[in-house]
Amino acid sequence: MGKSTNITWHDQTVTKQQRRENNKHHSCVLWFTGLSGSGKSTVANAVAKRLFDDRINSYVLDGDNIRFGINKDLGFSEEDRKENIRRIGEVSKLFVDSGQVVLTAFISPFREDRDKVRELLNEDEFIEIYIKCSLEACEARDPKGLYEKARQGIIKDFTGISSPYEEPNNPEIVVDTEENSIEECVELIVNYLKDKNFYI
Ligand code: PPS
Repeated sequence: MGKSTNITWHDQTVTKQQRRENNKHHSCVLWFTGLSGSGKSTVANAVAKRLFDDRINSYVLDGDNIRFGINKDLGFSEEDRKENIRRIGEVSKLFVDSGQVVLTAFISPFREDRDKVRELLNEDEFIEIYIKCSLEACEARDPKGLYEKARQGIIKDFTGISSPYEEPNNPEIVVDTEENSIEECVELIVNYLKDKNFYI
């Protein structure tokens, strides 16, 4: 139960359905999950570019960036990561209601938290995309030098090293960034959307 009392929900005059019809496409969350360095942001941005070229309104919410603003009060404890994902889930729901595609690139390490976001949305509005990449490969890439710092104990609670990552059990899409090029990953995701008649 939240802290706010005496509040009333107001439906908007323009509905989600009307916004979708105007946009000529459905709205949904493309929820990217995976280890640090797995390629979440890279793939999400490449998909966003493709959607943009196809005149689909989309926006990327990215872990690092969001932690500069709305979630600057959160760290990387289990509790803070849960709150991080809860807030992003709520924000994503607003994007879906606004008729847009929102691409979220967060490690989102806990299955339970991702499933809670899924429950916030209709069945066809939450598309979980597992960016599969072994810890070894992520560590070898180490684009920000964070794995090295985590191994040295400079960074605590680092996902995959000193904090857990729970793979999705039943993601809608799996892309393997060790096996597939970024272009192939984009193709897989866009084809999924087309198969589901996402483009109206
Ligand atoms: S989470 O687990 O979903 O709340 O994390 P997220 O908001 O996606 O933030 C992950 C990015 O934060 C940087 N970073 C860390 N990641 C994991 N563990 C620790 N301790 C940590 N400290 C900083 C890192 O740049 C992550 O970005 P990505 O893009 O995943 O590499």
